[in-house]
Amino acid sequence: MVTPRLIALVQAAALLWTQTATAANVADQFVGRGRIQVLNASDPFKTSLDADRIGCINAAGQLTHSDCAVFNQLPPPATPFSLSSPAGNCTTQNPDMPVNSDSIYGRGTHAWWCGEQGDWMQHKEWYYTINGWPAPFICSGEMRCLWDIKANVPKEGDELPVWQFFWGSQQPDIEPGHWNVLLLWVPVDEE
Ligand SMILES: *[C@@H]1O[C@H](CO)[C@@H](O)[C@H](O)[C@H]1NC(C)=O
Ligand SMILES: *[C@@H]1O[C@H](CO)[C@@H](O)[C@H](O)[C@H]1NC(C)=O
Repeated sequence: MVTPRLIALVQAAALLWTQTATAANVADQFVGRGRIQVLNASDPFKTSLDADRIGCINAAGQLTHSDCAVFNQLPPPATPFSLSSPAGNCTTQNPDMPVNSDSIYGRGTHAWWCGEQGDWMQHKEWYYTINGWPAPFICSGEMRCLWDIKANVPKEGDELPVWQFFWGSQQPDIEPGHWNVLLLWVPVDEE
């Protein structure tokens, strides 16, 4: 099934290959230090960087109202970890984080988290953005550029899970009661 989201991602990939020279080089912005704003959105090209903002990510990798941690992104090939917060490296593999039980394809996946990794770390995990997009939206794994939250605008003090978005033929769109979000990297000027 062809969803608008899939079309957007294919367009993004096409831009990556054909217009790299002329498109905004957002990958150059996704290095060094930055904060991560969370935008309620399912299409990287139709998202307002201001109006769609619902919160930001704290040092533990969770969605909050305004507890915006400063992250550090190492340029490739800095794997297995490329993105870290003051708490530690960021990953979706921490078994202590809640699974996305509402999602057919994501029900076995854990919420994003940053901290000190344990023996459970199974494989390399890296983060990147895609040149051609209007802004440096953060992707992980195999073109996982959309993320998944329970439909909720965080209030002061909330710390909410953020999952990678998984879909397939049985559930091509975001599951009921959830929203797709984009993670926007906002560079912090070095002082
Ligand atoms: C978030 O986006 C969904 C559509 O994906 C929309 O139904 C919802 O009203 C939006 N919420 C806010 C707070 O903008
Ligand atoms: C975080 O990742 C870096 C780069 O791979 C690594 O050198 C460092 O030991 C990691 N830190 C923790 C706390 O796991």
